This record gives sequence, structure tokens and C-alpha cells, in this order.
Amino acid sequence: MNDTHIYPIFDKMMGRADKESLLRQRSTMIWFTGLSGSGKSTVAIALERELHRRGFLCRILDGDNIRSGINNNLGFSPADRMENIRRIAEVARLFIDSGIITIAAFISPDNRMRETAARIIGEDDFLEVFVDTPLAVCEQRDVKGLYAKARRGEIKEFTGISSPFEEPQCPALRLDTSVLSIEQSVEKLLALVLPKIRL
Ligand code: ADX
Repeated sequence: MNDTHIYPIFDKMMGRADKESLLRQRSTMIWFTGLSGSGKSTVAIALERELHRRGFLCRILDGDNIRSGINNNLGFSPADRMENIRRIAEVARLFIDSGIITIAAFISPDNRMRETAARIIGEDDFLEVFVDTPLAVCEQRDVKGLYAKARRGEIKEFTGISSPFEEPQCPALRLDTSVLSIEQSVEKLLALVLPKIRL
């Protein structure tokens, strides 16, 4: 046998555990699902801010940094949404393998998509958080004016209006931002997340 084909152990890439101990945290996936306007990104940002303040390194993945970049060739057909979620899960896995607490805020409207994400990331690292704000409230907020457009038929396949949203069966946590303040949502999230991410 040729010696050049032997790869000593110290040539291996540093692993997740090495990075977690460097960062003094355990990584995990916090996967927000819910309608457009339900508050996923707002709560995700508030959670990241609070975890950061406590010394935890996080990374948020949301429409702004994913659909405008790596997924800018995808629309909102069921197949494109599935591909959107699949790529997000693969990207999330890279962050999690780097020891980083990863927070995703996507509608991810059906169980199959969320199960695909959980499978790619690993069930043990996957915390599903259902932002269960009623459609009527999301529509009334209509921050981006998209519900009005969807009602007028100007946007096709709009989730909650002309495209289905399948509720998660047993999320790790359910948050209704029409009754909870952002601070209350973050408090509930911390109770769920802190035991998982402390070394
Ligand atoms: S997902 O269904 O593929 O998970 P994602 O979270 O990436 O959706 O994107 C949702 C955001 O895209 C919405 O908050 C909204 O701003 C915008 N959007 C544009 N068209 C649609 C549509 N047809 N359905 C839902 N959201 C849409």
C-alpha cells in the first residue's frame, strides 16, 4: 500500500463538538412556521437579540437573506416552496455543524416540507415553533400589503388565501402574537431553548 493514501487523523476537519466547545454553546435549529405577517421574523429577531446579549452566537435565515439570494430563482408553487425549504435546511445544517444556533423564519406551509427540513437537520436538533397568529389578524396587519393584493387576485397561490397552510401537529411551542407581547414570546422561547444550548 502506498503511504500517500493514508490520511492521519489530525488532517480531519474540525467537528461540530470542537466548534461548540470553542463557542461554549450547543447548536440547535429553531424553526418558525406560520402565515405571512404572523410575526415569525419579528420574534426571531427579538430572540436572536436576547440570546446574543446572553453570549450565544446565532444566525437567522429568513426571506430577506434567502429568497433574495440563494433562492432567488424560486417562486411559490408547491414544488418551489419545497425546494426553498430543502435548500434552507441544507444551509441551516452547515451553520448547525459550525456550532451556531440557527433560527429559520419561513412560512413552510405543510407537514411534508417541515418533515423534510427536520430529516435533513436531524430530529434531535429541530425545535418547531408554530407562530399561530389568526389569519384575520395577519390580514388586518397586512404589513406588506400582500393580503389585499391576494384578495384582489393580483397574487396567486397566496398562503392562507388561495394556497393552504397546514397546522403543525405537535410543535415544541405555539405562540399567538395577537395575545402575547414580543417579550412574552421571547420568554417562552428562552424556557424552551436555553436548556438545549447551554453546554
Ligand atoms: S414558503 O412558503 O416558501 O415557506 P417563504 O417564507 O419563503 O414562503 O416566503 C414568504 C414571504 O414571501 C411572505 O411573507 C410574503 O412576503 C412573500 N410572498 C410572495 N408571494 C407569496 C405567496 N404567493 N404566498 C406566500 N407568501 C408570498
